[in-house]
Amino acid sequence: MAGLCFLVFSTSFLFLLFTLSFAVDSISPSQSIRDGNTLVSSYGSFELGFFSPGISKNRYLGIWYKNIPVKTVVWVANRCNPIDDSSGVLMINSTGSLVLLGQNKSVVWRASSVKNARSPMVQLLDSGNLVLRDVTDGNSSGGYLWQSFDHPSDTLLPEMKLGWDLRTGLKRGLSSWKNSADPCPGEFTVGIEMVELHAYPEIYMWKGGAKFCRSGPWNGLRFSGAPELRPDNPTYSFDVVYNDDEVYQMYNLQSKSVISILVLNGTTSTYDQLTWNEAEKNWRIYTSVPRDFCDRYGLCGPNANCVIGESPVCKCPQGFKPKSLEKWNSADWELGCVRNRPLSCEERDKDGFVKFTNLKLPDSTHSWVNKSMNIKECRAKCLNNCTCMAYTNADIRGGGSGCALWFGDLLDIKKFADDGQDLYIRMSASELEEEDDGKAKTRIIKDQLKETDIREGNQKNEGSQKEDLELPLFNISTIASATDNFSDYMKLGEGGFGPVYRGTLADGQEFAVKRLSRSSGQGFNEFMNEITTIAKLQHRNLVKILGCCVQEEEKMLIYEYMANRSLDNFIFDQTRGELLSDWPKRFNIICGIARGLLYLHQDSRLRIIHRDLKASNVLLDDEMNPKISDFGLARMLTGGDQTQGNTKRVVGTYGYMAPEYAADGRFSVKSDVFSFGILILEVISGRRNKGFYHPDHSHNLIGHAWSLWKEGRPLELIDTLLGSSCNPSEVLRSIQVGLLCVQHHPEDRPSMASVVIMLGSDIALAQPKQPGFFSEREHEAGRPHIGNESSTNEISISLLEPR
Ligand SMILES: *[C@@H]1O[C@H](CO)[C@@H](O)[C@H](O)[C@H]1NC(C)=O
Ligand SMILES: *[C@@H]1O[C@H](CO)[C@@H](O)[C@H](O)[C@H]1NC(C)=O
Ligand SMILES: *[C@@H]1O[C@H](CO)[C@@H](O)[C@H](O)[C@H]1NC(C)=O
Ligand SMILES: *[C@@H]1O[C@H](CO)[C@@H](O)[C@H](O)[C@H]1NC(C)=O
Ligand SMILES: *[C@@H]1O[C@H](CO)[C@@H](O)[C@H](O)[C@H]1NC(C)=O
Ligand SMILES: *[C@@H]1O[C@H](CO)[C@@H](O)[C@H](O)[C@H]1NC(C)=O
Ligand SMILES: *[C@@H]1O[C@H](CO)[C@@H](O)[C@H](O)[C@H]1NC(C)=O
Ligand SMILES: *[C@@H]1O[C@H](CO)[C@@H](O)[C@H](O)[C@H]1NC(C)=O
Ligand SMILES: *[C@@H]1O[C@H](CO)[C@@H](O)[C@H](O)[C@H]1NC(C)=O
Ligand SMILES: *[C@@H]1O[C@H](CO)[C@@H](O)[C@H](O)[C@H]1NC(C)=O
Repeated sequence: MAGLCFLVFSTSFLFLLFTLSFAVDSISPSQSIRDGNTLVSSYGSFELGFFSPGISKNRYLGIWYKNIPVKTVVWVANRCNPIDDSSGVLMINSTGSLVLLGQNKSVVWRASSVKNARSPMVQLLDSGNLVLRDVTDGNSSGGYLWQSFDHPSDTLLPEMKLGWDLRTGLKRGLSSWKNSADPCPGEFTVGIEMVELHAYPEIYMWKGGAKFCRSGPWNGLRFSGAPELRPDNPTYSFDVVYNDDEVYQMYNLQSKSVISILVLNGTTSTYDQLTWNEAEKNWRIYTSVPRDFCDRYGLCGPNANCVIGESPVCKCPQGFKPKSLEKWNSADWELGCVRNRPLSCEERDKDGFVKFTNLKLPDSTHSWVNKSMNIKECRAKCLNNCTCMAYTNADIRGGGSGCALWFGDLLDIKKFADDGQDLYIRMSASELEEEDDGKAKTRIIKDQLKETDIREGNQKNEGSQKEDLELPLFNISTIASATDNFSDYMKLGEGGFGPVYRGTLADGQEFAVKRLSRSSGQGFNEFMNEITTIAKLQHRNLVKILGCCVQEEEKMLIYEYMANRSLDNFIFDQTRGELLSDWPKRFNIICGIARGLLYLHQDSRLRIIHRDLKASNVLLDDEMNPKISDFGLARMLTGGDQTQGNTKRVVGTYGYMAPEYAADGRFSVKSDVFSFGILILEVISGRRNKGFYHPDHSHNLIGHAWSLWKEGRPLELIDTLLGSSCNPSEVLRSIQVGLLCVQHHPEDRPSMASVVIMLGSDIALAQPKQPGFFSEREHEAGRPHIGNESSTNEISISLLEPR
């Protein structure tokens, strides 16, 4: 039927009929796409053609996913200019422009190409990008005259840029549909605001032109408003590029088997990351903003802080008070907060700064950034300018260097429970003095308290000897100065229990300090009891605890410093992996971890289940001997001395958690054995279990190892870096032990005592049974649900699971 119409436009009917029936991905000037025909990208991911949205009968030219059954339109050409019958034709006209013709051959939409092509061609790429290019250019990798990626609709696809081309002034932003039947731009838009170059880049969502929600400034590693969203998570990686030519955000999928898009939804007023769920054949919301009440732009007015979990959510920060107490108390926060005391700006050096932590940094519109300034210069620069209200480290990726200043009112600040950023807010000297007095008083009271606490603690453990108290207590000011006041650039890493910093004492001794998240909610006595006991655990495969620090709200553990950091830095990294390209070294690491774990499970006085064993919790000393860290932390934070149990508080890391633990909270020494099995397979293969990708199947590393095992070619698992250093029988034995450890049923898994024996001798080993969690999907299904955001990255989680 549609075939007849081709005769009108096509000069080579037969050719066209032939090619279209075999799904072409491009058209040249002699061809066209009519309503009823489509272009399909070369690998079949996307399709371009005419469609009617929702209940509408209007016809639009659009692009949608070809390879998923739910029609998902990602781009529309004639968004506000529909064709009301099936007369639409997409073609290249004789002067090389891409045009969409409607009734009477009227032009309803055209691509505004930069110049006329001599030999134009239009192609639908497998990325979903529709491009117009000049074939005579012979440049297939770029140089497009026009591309749909430069003119987004409501959807951001991987590889698409959201932001500005500063050379041409081209702005690439999203706009929502009016409604599900009308793709014409609605009231919501998303983009990067065009501000001066010396400001932080930030993504905004606007409603009818007014700011509605924002990402928080990009600090080089992540957006200040989404601290949990690491740029390198298992689903997608993203980055913000920011230079003289361009400012944009772009993301890429980590695996070809994942389909994930960002959509601006006008119906729900949200900007959502959707991920296609193949098993259920639907889209799942991966993240969605605004994520909470406090994400509503400027909810609390200028200089106020929005704190989820507090009632009311709006708070004036220390040193500030409501501008109108009456309005504030009736929950009208629009006027925000003003200073208790005016700044004494004219007299230089009379002002100071108060550090606020865990914040989503203020709106960056009136900010100024210099990446090569250090924090001291930054402070001085702010102090020297009366309108400067706050400063902080600008660029975490650059080792916490850089300087960011804010001028005028601080807008849209939000406080996180954990994991936000620091901001130094200017205060008058008189405000600072008063605050210092207050703090000093509480400090003295707490210090006295602590002494009595220790005495009591000592009395309680009557049987124990004096050595109980030999765990050094560090003074918080010692730790603070040794870590440059817990500067970001001293940070070694971060986990669910809190950040870890590197420090150097006055005598040159280096240490690592873990600053426990405040939410751990444990009393001083329990903490001290626990810590003194755990500090006595000593084994050459456990990191040594040097002391602790408990002062005010803070609880910290001080460990010996491991110069070579953690195992994951080596085995998952092609370059540093070479330093461990020698099988005996890796085998030594496997055996060392096994001995350390055996000590925790069985040989120590305490019987500790680690619950968060993973490559990043295995540290390496100067000779690359493994030392387990974070042991005892799970125990301390949950306050249990159970050796097996059922907990509402799941502590662990996706990718390492045993199925019965992740799904039901049932933990035992055998759930540690499971994590250890994963570690063995990771050390052998140099691949992560979580986020493992193989072109031939959707299994994770366990599943991959298991299928190789069943197919009788287990040695193919070996990291190619290991080359000829391998001792095949040792590797084979290790793989088999690994698979025994990750068996689905905990009772089938060996104890660590057996593991140590199996690794160290030639005894015959059992045949492993089917492992638990061998595909990503299965893992997904068994995973505890954390709110509405997925936190699938390699960090420990600690959560209370309602059951
Ligand atoms: C081709 O389309 C462009 C854009 O609509 C228009 O400017 C140009 O005049 C057209 N050429 C012809 C020959 O119609
Ligand atoms: C198409 O042309 C016919 C005849 O000239 C005219 O009556 C009709 O209104 C035109 N339609 C449009 C959409 O321009
Ligand atoms: C091909 O396109 C790329 C990307 O736009 C461009 O950098 C390159 O200079 C082009 N090469 C030629 C020969 O035009
Ligand atoms: C917006 O969200 C609603 C409700 O979840 C959904 O039905 C609709 O399909 C979404 N629209 C888009 C464009 O994703
Ligand atoms: C940024 O800071 C560096 C170091 O203080 C300084 O040399 C440079 O001039 C500054 N750049 C701007 C644009 O102020
Ligand atoms: C203070 O900063 C503002 C904003 O950048 C600037 O316009 C003003 O000139 C600065 N004043 C001084 C004294 O540097
Ligand atoms: C910690 O050190 C500071 C500075 O040296 C000192 O003033 C304070 O008294 C010490 N606190 C304790 C509890 O020792
Ligand atoms: C740490 O902070 C204190 C006061 O808060 C300050 O006196 C000291 O100079 C700071 N130290 C460093 C290294 O920045
Ligand atoms: C481990 O640390 C020691 C001491 O810092 C160093 O000499 C050695 O090169 C490191 N090894 C690796 C593989 O980085
Ligand atoms: C998850 O989303 C639902 C519906 O949007 C909401 O009712 C619920 O409170 C959210 N849960 C969390 C933990 O945010």
